[in-house]
Amino acid sequence: MCGITGYIGDNKTTDILIDGLKRLEYRGYDSCGIAVVDAKNELYLRRVSGRVDALDKLVAGDPAKGPKSGVGHTRWATHGAPSEDNAHPHTDCTGRVVVVHNGIIENYLDLKEKLQAGGHKFKSETDTEVIAHLMEEKLKSLHVQEKAVRAEMLEPVFFEAFRRTVAELKGSFALSMVWASCPAMLLAARMHSPLVIGLGKGENFIASDVSAFLKFTKRVVFLNDGEMAAVRKDGVDYYDFKGKKTSKDAVTIQWDSTMAEKGGYKHFMLKEIHEQAESVENTLRGRLLPLGGDILKAETGLTTASMKGFAALQFVACGTAYHACLVGRFLFENFGIPAHADVASEFTDRAKLMHKDTLVVAISQSGETADTLFAVREAKAAGARVLAITNTVGSTLTREADYVLHTHCGPEIGVASTKAFLGQLAAIYLLAGHFAAARGILSSTEARRYAEDLLKVPRLIEETLAGEKEIAKVAEAFAASEHFLFISRHINYPIALEGALKIKEISYVHAEGYAAGEMKHGPIAIIYKGMPLLAVAPTGRALELMAGNVEEAKARGADVVAIVDAASRKTVKANRYIVLPDAPELFTPLLTVIPLQIFAYYVALAKKCDIDKPRNLAKSVTVR
Ligand code: G6P
Repeated sequence: MCGITGYIGDNKTTDILIDGLKRLEYRGYDSCGIAVVDAKNELYLRRVSGRVDALDKLVAGDPAKGPKSGVGHTRWATHGAPSEDNAHPHTDCTGRVVVVHNGIIENYLDLKEKLQAGGHKFKSETDTEVIAHLMEEKLKSLHVQEKAVRAEMLEPVFFEAFRRTVAELKGSFALSMVWASCPAMLLAARMHSPLVIGLGKGENFIASDVSAFLKFTKRVVFLNDGEMAAVRKDGVDYYDFKGKKTSKDAVTIQWDSTMAEKGGYKHFMLKEIHEQAESVENTLRGRLLPLGGDILKAETGLTTASMKGFAALQFVACGTAYHACLVGRFLFENFGIPAHADVASEFTDRAKLMHKDTLVVAISQSGETADTLFAVREAKAAGARVLAITNTVGSTLTREADYVLHTHCGPEIGVASTKAFLGQLAAIYLLAGHFAAARGILSSTEARRYAEDLLKVPRLIEETLAGEKEIAKVAEAFAASEHFLFISRHINYPIALEGALKIKEISYVHAEGYAAGEMKHGPIAIIYKGMPLLAVAPTGRALELMAGNVEEAKARGADVVAIVDAASRKTVKANRYIVLPDAPELFTPLLTVIPLQIFAYYVALAKKCDIDKPRNLAKSVTVR
């Protein structure tokens, strides 16, 4: 996730671009930049590693002369660490073609090799830069003589080269392009990443979302996947990827700019809950097929041979990321691969038992959690190799690990982790699939089935999210409760822990997550009449036992909300139900956690808590 701005018109281009970037910083904030075409049709490009304020200062000290049009970008790194070189905009070899991009170009390595073989010199480690060089090639192939013709006459060439460039890209992208030789037109394209056009009077805007330009215009056109726009100051034309003109209707936005940053949601947490299908999709994209092949090698350093070689896995993390570790433990053990999971702060003695055949998997959204980093250092000192699963490119964890698998969730602003957790789970399922296939535990047919089922999960997440209103009603019914119990078994046991953690974090009420089998060994004593108990009970090996645990809790007065699917609903006799779509048993944690996040959100909302910034908590804990 990154933020894109674009502007064409007679007002202050650089100020408008930078103001827009400040409003989009919630989408990414590790580096930023702008590129504008000045009065002499020269390119003015400024980039910084860091926040938009630093860019603003840089530009103010050395402003562009008579800027006419341009683009801006605030980045959340996916390929290449946060740095000035990797900051957008990126240019081609001529320095006149400029691109800003949000998304992931899956085939960038192939394209880059071909372009390098053709003599192109790359200046960054990003996937985005290939787009600028590819565009340069396409312009060349159209035999443009930039200097021989008037700038307006270059517009059809610019458009056609752009169309041909876009046709070669695989993956997800929202793009905007400037060509210094043709400054009266900006081009934009969208595939699986948001992009919106703002319609002004004698000026037009491009942005990742409307918050960037809402103070200038509320009339907008949302691009759909597979659509492009040619944006001039007095009008916008829309096309499909074949270059056929399409017509689009403008809509008028009623939001104010704070609402717009949150996509119309009241809180970032709710917005991020709704971004979870995308988090899973982006984390799996281009990394799944074929399972057991060497496709993770270039990106993570993990080879099929190394995946075969490790004797055991040891997961470590803190907070929500630790719950992802526990799911990882169950998943790998299910495949017969030894795996442990520990909270990083309690790992000290076990760290000393690590050796070169252990793969320590450290999971951290921020990549900066002090306890997790400390655990990694201790494990490395004992000889283990470390795989980092993190959402933050260039974080300390990525620099210390031997292998790195990034989750592609974009920045998570809400302190209580939601979409980052789903990204972590997706990374774990991806990894487990590759390990099981590499070790021959899954046959090629089974591996294909596993991958196909996993690729269906984002759609199932969307279906689960559609139940939000029903879940909210259940939550509101319990909003006054002071105690909550969450129970489950096997691979959903960590989800019970996560459900309890979410409610503690944002509602400040007492909640416990338990392995359902442990209830009879103590916790059942605390059940009182009307106590809310959430039982995660999808179809699977634990169902019969879970049904029994629900009966026992109900018999002692608990008001049981069962998280079930259509089939398990028939077995579990609860007071209330939240029904999820059917999913293969192993993948159910990717769905069952969602109603618990929504439940926690609506309990906190009813209690009027500060949901995005809960008391006493920090997003990233960098002290031990
Ligand atoms: C803090 C956050 C949690 C998070 C934990 C681990 O406690 O409030 O939401 O799960 O840190 O953070 P990490 O960045 O390492 O995933």
